[in-house]
Amino acid sequence: MHLETKRLILRKFEETDFERVFLIDSNPEVMKYIGVPPLSDIGQSKNIIKMIQQQYLDNGIGRLAVIEKESNLLIGWSGLKFLTQEINGYNNIYELGYRFMPEYWGKGYALESAKASLDYGFNDLNIDIIYAMAHCENEGSNHILRKLGFEKTGEFTEPDGLCFWYELKRKNN
Ligand SMILES: CC(C)(COP(=O)(O)OP(=O)(O)OC[C@H]1O[C@@H](n2cnc3c(N)ncnc32)[C@H](O)[C@@H]1OP(=O)(O)O)[C@@H](O)C(=O)NCCC(=O)NCCS
Repeated sequence: MHLETKRLILRKFEETDFERVFLIDSNPEVMKYIGVPPLSDIGQSKNIIKMIQQQYLDNGIGRLAVIEKESNLLIGWSGLKFLTQEINGYNNIYELGYRFMPEYWGKGYALESAKASLDYGFNDLNIDIIYAMAHCENEGSNHILRKLGFEKTGEFTEPDGLCFWYELKRKNN
C-alpha cells in the first residue's frame, strides 16, 4: 500500500530503512513520551522493521514510512496499527500513531500524514472507529488528536505516567 499527500509519500517499510529508523528511535527528544527507552544498538532498528513487516502480513496493515517528497528522505513514520496486545482494556482495534525526526517538526507533517491514514482507514478499510493514545504531557500529540477530531474518552496509567485515550468514529453520510 502507498498513500500520497501534497508533500509526503507514505509507503511500507523496507529493510534498507534501518539507518533512518535508528536515527529516529535513538533520539531521546523523540522518545521522551513514548514509554520505551531510546534505541542504543542499530540492530534493534532492523528488528523493528522486521516486526512491522510481519504486521503487514498478519494484519494487512502497520505503520508506514513517511518520505518527504522535497528531499526524498525518510523523515518519520505514521499510520494505523492493528493492536493485538491489550492496552487500556482494548484489543484487536486500529490505532493511529506518528513519530518524526525533530528537524521536521512544526511543518504540519504529523497532521498531513495522519489525515491520509484516517481517510484510508475509514474509506478504504471501512473501519468504524479508530483509537489513539498520548502521554498526558505530550502537548503536541494531544493537540493534533483534538485537531483531527478525536474525542478523549479515557485515561490510563503506564509505568511512565498518565496517558489519554482517544476515539474517532467514521462519519456516515
Ligand atoms: C508529536 C509530533 C508527531 C508532532 O509532529 P509535527 O509534524 O511537528 O506536528 P504538526 O506540525 O503537524 O503540528 C500540528 C499542530 O500541533 C501543534 N504542535 C506540534 N507540536 C507541538 C508541541 N510540542 N507543543 C504544542 N503544540 C504542538 C502545532 O503547533 C500544530 O498546531 P496548529 O495546526 O493548530 O497550528 C512530533 O513532535 C514527534 O514526532 N514527537 C515525538 C514522537 C511522539 O511523541 N509521537 C506521538 C506519540 S503519542
